[in-house]
Amino acid sequence: MKIIIGNDHAGVEFKNTIMKHLEEQGHEVVNVGTDTLDYPDIAKSVAEKVLAEEGNLGIIICGTGIGISIAANKVEGIRAALCHNEFTARMARLHNNANIVALGARVIGDELGKAIVDTFITTEFSNEERHIKRIEKITNYENQLK
Ligand code: RB5
Repeated sequence: MKIIIGNDHAGVEFKNTIMKHLEEQGHEVVNVGTDTLDYPDIAKSVAEKVLAEEGNLGIIICGTGIGISIAANKVEGIRAALCHNEFTARMARLHNNANIVALGARVIGDELGKAIVDTFITTEFSNEERHIKRIEKITNYENQLK
């Protein structure tokens, strides 16, 4: 599993902190940058790399985490969850099988950010029928829009 990480100008230092934390744990982290691109560009670039290989997960960071999560969720097959605490990070994986976590660099501190990504990365999808069914409805809806 690769962890793809990207940020806009509001999240440069925060991204570096999170990336260092993950690398210290031995994770393979792919950094798509940046301190210059707008959050929709970074969202697209992280999303495409997450989808390129089964099991990859993504971390996207902007000031609030809002814009970049909205943008990432426009990419078919992406379920990006904006998380502000460990509970939502856990539920995003368990119930929603989210493949990207979005973080707000101007909202949460470094230690909470590290705890959120640790939880997100180590929690597996529950694989329960009721959650599979609901996620399938999202996929079906995406297909109708084509
Ligand atoms: C940039 O100033 C800020 O708008 C952006 O990082 C993000 O918070 C948007 O949702």
